[in-house]
Amino acid sequence: MTTATCARPADIHPLPRTMTFEVDDWNILARCWHPVALVRELGDRPLGVTLLDAPLVVYRAGDSIVVADDLCPHRGVPLSMGKGDGQTVACAYHGFRFGEKGRCVKVPAHPDSAIPSKLNLRTYPAVERYGLIWTCLRPEGDGADIPPMPHWNDPAFQQINCPWIDIAGFAGRQVEGFIDVAHFAFVHTDTFADPENPVVPPYRTRITPDGFEAEYRSSVGNYPIGKSDRGRPGFEWLRHFRVHVPFTATLEIHFPDNGRLVIMNAASPVSARKTRMFAPMCRNFDKDLPLQDVYDFNLRVFEEDRALVEAQKPENLPLDPTLEAHVMADRSSIAYRRALRTMGLSQFFTA
Ligand code: FES
Ligand SMILES: [Fe+2]
Repeated sequence: MTTATCARPADIHPLPRTMTFEVDDWNILARCWHPVALVRELGDRPLGVTLLDAPLVVYRAGDSIVVADDLCPHRGVPLSMGKGDGQTVACAYHGFRFGEKGRCVKVPAHPDSAIPSKLNLRTYPAVERYGLIWTCLRPEGDGADIPPMPHWNDPAFQQINCPWIDIAGFAGRQVEGFIDVAHFAFVHTDTFADPENPVVPPYRTRITPDGFEAEYRSSVGNYPIGKSDRGRPGFEWLRHFRVHVPFTATLEIHFPDNGRLVIMNAASPVSARKTRMFAPMCRNFDKDLPLQDVYDFNLRVFEEDRALVEAQKPENLPLDPTLEAHVMADRSSIAYRRALRTMGLSQFFTA
């Protein structure tokens, strides 16, 4: 794990030019850490990403990673259109080069002149964790509150970084779907669930400093359908959810023979209507099987969810409990909405 903190105290993101969030909600979400890219997708080329409606560029500057506004201070061209060499990134328009901490290190038209600090980029912290690059637009801490992931640093576990998945829906709706245990028998019947097993046994939620957790025991297995004959009749599957508001949940699934699979659902709010879903995983079994099989299975499961998340109305997550109907199986979703309210969030969306 490496940490590269690049923010200077003055680097506070102004409100984005185009806002899909309510300003008060944006101000709260901008103080949280969100993943914006896989470490492995960052080569020498600068990467353009969007977080909370803010266009950002991510690039390598030697040993550090820089996250900055995707905007050249000279004439406003996105730096993600430029070129990188692993040490610096060069703007596509007049070739100004930017390096560590977003400093402008070269103005080709005037190679011998001093470079004014006004040409430095506005940067944000960049922290590598779970194979992801995390950042924060209005940092108040050092990344210590990036959600923990059980077993990620455990040598008995294999670490896996699935490709991200883009969803045309709100991160809160997507996360709520991830912690929902009542939809398996209707949505995931081609991947792991049993359409004949829709009953949700009682479970409880516990409030934690970051959100809440829930331990859910049922007979719904987690082996890929048709891929395995390793079903274990009578085995009680434990799914341990840990939710870290606003948009991260980790699920630790207890398999037979002390097998463990941990899936982090880290939903990055591109905007109020778009989500980039990152899914680092780790497991202590099947460690020699091809990673592509894990990627493919994960994609199939999240694709099953996607159509529903993208179709839900309203598009935001109603935090007022009177606005949607609830049943006993929804304890996790009720706890999630309550935890978001406790953060001070309200409506999420502009019109
Ligand atoms: S616009 Fe970037 S160098 Fe001129
Ligand atoms: Fe699902």
